[in-house]
Amino acid sequence: MSAIELRDVSVEFHEGKRTVQAVKGVSLQVQKGEIFGIVGFSGAGKSTLVRTLNLLQRPTSGKVLLDGEDITAVQGSRLRSLRKRIGFIFQGFNLITNRTVGQNINFALKAAGWPKKDRARRIKELLDIVDLGEKVDSYPASLSGGQQQRISIARALANEPEILLCDEATSALDLETTQEILSVIKRINRNLGITVVFITHELDVAKAIFDHVAVMERGTVIEQGATYDIFASPQHDTTRSLVERYLGIELPAETVAALPPGRLLEIRYKGSETYEPLISQISTRYGTPVNVLHAKIEYFGSRAIGILIILLSGAPDSVEQALRDLRDHVFSLTELERGSKGETEALAADGDGGDGADASGGDGYIAGTGDGIALKED
Ligand SMILES: Nc1ncnc2c1ncn2[C@@H]1O[C@H](COP(=O)(O)OP(=O)(O)OP(=O)(O)O)[C@@H](O)[C@H]1O
Ligand SMILES: [Mg+2]
Repeated sequence: MSAIELRDVSVEFHEGKRTVQAVKGVSLQVQKGEIFGIVGFSGAGKSTLVRTLNLLQRPTSGKVLLDGEDITAVQGSRLRSLRKRIGFIFQGFNLITNRTVGQNINFALKAAGWPKKDRARRIKELLDIVDLGEKVDSYPASLSGGQQQRISIARALANEPEILLCDEATSALDLETTQEILSVIKRINRNLGITVVFITHELDVAKAIFDHVAVMERGTVIEQGATYDIFASPQHDTTRSLVERYLGIELPAETVAALPPGRLLEIRYKGSETYEPLISQISTRYGTPVNVLHAKIEYFGSRAIGILIILLSGAPDSVEQALRDLRDHVFSLTELERGSKGETEALAADGDGGDGADASGGDGYIAGTGDGIALKED
């Protein structure tokens, strides 16, 4: 059973005569104990969607289920006890500035009915979880942004929630502090078994901690799946452009213009193997010199997505044979046009693409997909 399930959830807002459809028919399932991410451009409906999970936003239609129980219509005291099961953190840390860290957390404990005698112990426990035990008497203004966010995480955990919702929780933080917060969230998720739903527009964050990810655009989920799969083979144009922007590597136009004759290729591979042996073997086997112009490997835990741009030269027949061999061993092989802007053509090397395209001529080419790998002239 999923920890969270949305069934065909829609949210409409009415502004005068205008209706804004912020969320349109979204269905998704979040498994217990995972970190589920929602990514998408501004205005996609991410915050609205996440607010339906604790009914801060009631769906206009559709159902919200927690542990299989339909909570969509819950009211009153049941709603209050339901909200205790769900912690929430935001981009702004929302700490009370004229209260100490300890008092801020005490406030949440008191509101949730914790007996006074137990609160000091609980505050210490919570601050230890976020490694800020020594800050109990500090005021928020004396803390860094990362520390303030850790306090707000501690406060969100006050009621021992099963679920933690994070709306752009790292968007106001620099890279290093973001990593610090992500590792706290990951630790909470793994050690306390708390299911996390995390909204971000930063793919770095997605890559670092999401188990599964849903991509939103104009109120709908356009694609969802395991994070690695979404990064390795995005299906929807928007996902592709998001991922390309993140993974894509570009060569300066001057570099391309100055290249000796040869086929300019972008190769992608998945898994844990490295590319060097393959490239050098093929180069030796067919007598085709290979010039590696750019290489990048992104790791997702133990799995990698590698991207490299090579120039393959040699006798035309040998080059064709080398291409065929390469294509059988890599996830995708895309020929980049030399000189023209942004035009690419793929050699249909998609893993299970079977007999796919004929590398030897125009007929076998399929339309290219990657705008982010464009060799821009400007
Ligand atoms: N209370 C509201 N009243 C009217 N329209 C709203 C309201 N809340 C959100 N919207 C609209 O719903 C759409 C989705 O907004 P939402 O805040 O969910 O997007 P988002 O993906 O979280 O964006 P961002 O990345 O900028 O935070 C937007 O068009 C927004 O203007
Ligand atoms: Mg938002």
